[in-house]
Amino acid sequence: MLRITLVNTKGGCGKTTLATNLASYFAGQGFRTTLMDYDPQGSSRQWLSLRGEHLPPINGVDAVRQKIGVTRSWQLRAGLDTEVLVVDTPAGVNGSQMIELLRQADVILIPVMPSLVDMQATADFIDHLIRVGKIKSLSKQVGIVANRLRAGSRSQRALEEFLRGYDIPVVARLRDSQNYVNAMEEGQGIHELHPRTAAKDHEQWSPLIDWLNHDAQGVAPILKGSGAMGARIDEAMSC
Ligand SMILES: Nc1ncnc2c1ncn2[C@@H]1O[C@H](COP(=O)(O)OP(=O)(O)O)[C@@H](O)[C@H]1O
Ligand SMILES: [Mg+2]
Repeated sequence: MLRITLVNTKGGCGKTTLATNLASYFAGQGFRTTLMDYDPQGSSRQWLSLRGEHLPPINGVDAVRQKIGVTRSWQLRAGLDTEVLVVDTPAGVNGSQMIELLRQADVILIPVMPSLVDMQATADFIDHLIRVGKIKSLSKQVGIVANRLRAGSRSQRALEEFLRGYDIPVVARLRDSQNYVNAMEEGQGIHELHPRTAAKDHEQWSPLIDWLNHDAQGVAPILKGSGAMGARIDEAMSC
């Protein structure tokens, strides 16, 4: 099972948006996918409740109700047949909860938006992650997703400058697009929107999928390990 966790103690940076889009992407590729929601606000669960029955199924797990901190592993909570687990987390996770979230993840994705307030909060969060989560010693694959970019804007340049200060790869740069809002309202992911509408967004997701598939050391075997999963991703991306 590949476990991807979206974290950033800053609210509104795109954790739920990335979580729902990753879940729908992997479900669309035929992986048995679970979306686990640690956020009491339940935005991911709400999105899942809007999802039409004609769309590839995603198993939902309400980690809030299941009681945080219980020792059951994510594999047991998600279901033994889950191939891809996407974990959405709330803003302001505290130290012990953070450790649990990090301990069980294979991949950690940190969305960040191009605003001063977000960059400052993210800087504090990354410091915290390195100190509390000891991400280096846990050898987790950590990637940053620059989200809600407006091409050529001063804020985007400031974000790029900010990100250059970190030794963490920027694995995707996603534009600010109404497509994300529309898809969210319909219980869909942007890969389920018509390519005519969302071609640019699909293109911007390719580096993230490639990174998950090839570059995140230790992750590729998980995706490739049980048969043709890696190949299926390759195939999907070449279409
Ligand atoms: N790339 C994007 N383009 C446009 N709107 C976005 C984008 N990413 C997120 N949003 C919107 O920003 C708001 C906050 O995003 P959300 O994913 O809920 O953040 P978080 O889960 O980190 O609090 C939502 O209304 C969402 O639809
Ligand atoms: Mg959220």
